[in-house]
Amino acid sequence: MENFDRQKRAFFVKTGLSVRPVMRLHKYVGNLRKGTESWRNVSEHCLVEVARVDVLAAVLRLSGGIRGKLRIAAALHDVGKREEVAAFRAANETENSAWEACTEASRQSAEIMKRAGFSDDVIALASIAGDHNSFAATLALAEQDVLTDEETARLIMSYVDDMSAGSTWATPAVPLPDGSLQNTVDRRLEAGEKDPRYARMNEEAREHFAGRTMYAMQRETAHAVEQRLAALLSEKTGEMIDPKRLPEWIDLRIRERIAAEQV
Ligand SMILES: [Fe+2]
Repeated sequence: MENFDRQKRAFFVKTGLSVRPVMRLHKYVGNLRKGTESWRNVSEHCLVEVARVDVLAAVLRLSGGIRGKLRIAAALHDVGKREEVAAFRAANETENSAWEACTEASRQSAEIMKRAGFSDDVIALASIAGDHNSFAATLALAEQDVLTDEETARLIMSYVDDMSAGSTWATPAVPLPDGSLQNTVDRRLEAGEKDPRYARMNEEAREHFAGRTMYAMQRETAHAVEQRLAALLSEKTGEMIDPKRLPEWIDLRIRERIAAEQV
């Protein structure tokens, strides 16, 4: 095994240990089972998000308490994914509202977290990730003049989930013929938009977002948050960060952390 791979493994083992109570919950709900029924990729996706939110929380110097809560929230955020996917499929096969099914599944995920003893503020933070019911509030927050550390943490949780496809590294932004950049967030949302499984949910969202589809709203929210976070990071670091390059910037910081691992 290459040295970097060994360092990467050591880094993620440590990351997992740092959120041990959450990893126990992943195990309890069956995400860590082996074999074809495995949902291990969901747990890995959560750990990658722990690393990503931590980079942003550290550079933005969020208070220690909030940085810790953000790490736990990221580790937790998809713990109920299996049930969410099942509820969504069931709604698609019937005439039931996919929007309502997703809302109910999110409520049940929060219930699992609550029963496992996680605090309401951590659960609220975890629940922001990918939640269609949070888009409007997150968009408003991205445009708010002054942010508390708790509010910045909400922007971080929302953005990191929008940029995270599975547990892979963010792919670099590429220029489009019109001169704009297409980044990993655009590609992820575009793939979702083309996926027929989400077509109904995408359309149903129009009655909640004044005629706009779910992906239109999610894209606008993600890029507004991206711009705000890039501006905050540029302020703190003195480095000009192109918002569309933010996913790459975050992952580069993680690679530096991995490269510093002693193995
Ligand atoms: Fe996620």
